[in-house]
Amino acid sequence: MQRTFKTGPSGPGYAPAMNRTAALVCFGIAAMAGVADVSRAGQAAPAAAADAAPAYTADGKLVFPSDYREWIYLSSGLGMTYTRPGAAGSGGMGPMFTNVFVNPSSYRAFAQTGKWPDKTVFVLEVRDSADHGSIVKGGRYQTGTMGYDVEVKDETRFPEHWRFFTYPAPDGPMPAGNPIPKDAGCLACHSKNAAVENTFVQFYPTLLEIAKAKGTLNPSYVHAEEAAPTATP
Ligand code: HEC
Repeated sequence: MQRTFKTGPSGPGYAPAMNRTAALVCFGIAAMAGVADVSRAGQAAPAAAADAAPAYTADGKLVFPSDYREWIYLSSGLGMTYTRPGAAGSGGMGPMFTNVFVNPSSYRAFAQTGKWPDKTVFVLEVRDSADHGSIVKGGRYQTGTMGYDVEVKDETRFPEHWRFFTYPAPDGPMPAGNPIPKDAGCLACHSKNAAVENTFVQFYPTLLEIAKAKGTLNPSYVHAEEAAPTATP
């Protein structure tokens, strides 16, 4: 079933034209850096979760990091909108979850410094939600994948250091993603509103504590928070 809805740089939420049934197909990631530990008995312990630098095709598209579910989970937004209330989930669908992942070595670097190292990759996985099913009488749970947004910090490849990509949830192999033009709106919103560099650390509670402790919050974010009313639970 193919559903198309408003999205992207000018839209209220996320999601390109997407196919609801997602089939994740493994692509080869060029640079895999698995680290194996050796136990005292001399046996190899299970390798640490695979980590990957961003990999590109010869024509400059980003290979989708299909192992992102083994990365570090940061948080989930539910039905977040940035323009007007109720925009996400319009068109008969429930509010969407946005699950955010980052590659493990960059997470570890952030935990130590409060900053993102070069070659950091984020995946924002968009899922539909439901409020009926199985034993559920209240609340919402996540269902099918609706698409992905990816963000890369790559200081050698991109003059502005950060680039954004978007992917559908295909039935077949995942196509490589074209870089989204830098004036398309992704970078504009992220650079203006994000708490640390171009990332929305204000919505990832454990990272926000780290950034506060390390003093790496963007001054623009700090000023906006001082002017805004405090968030209520
Ligand atoms: C109007 C503002 C806005 C625009 C435009 C926008 N984003 Fe975001 N983005 C956000 C917010 C807010 C979050 C935090 C989402 C959450 O907590 O689930 C986010 C999170 C992300 C993340 C997770 C990493 C991070 O930076 O925190 C990725 C990846 C991402 N967006 C990609 C994109 C792409 C690709 C586009 C353009 C197609 C885009 N975004 C356009 C506001 C925006």
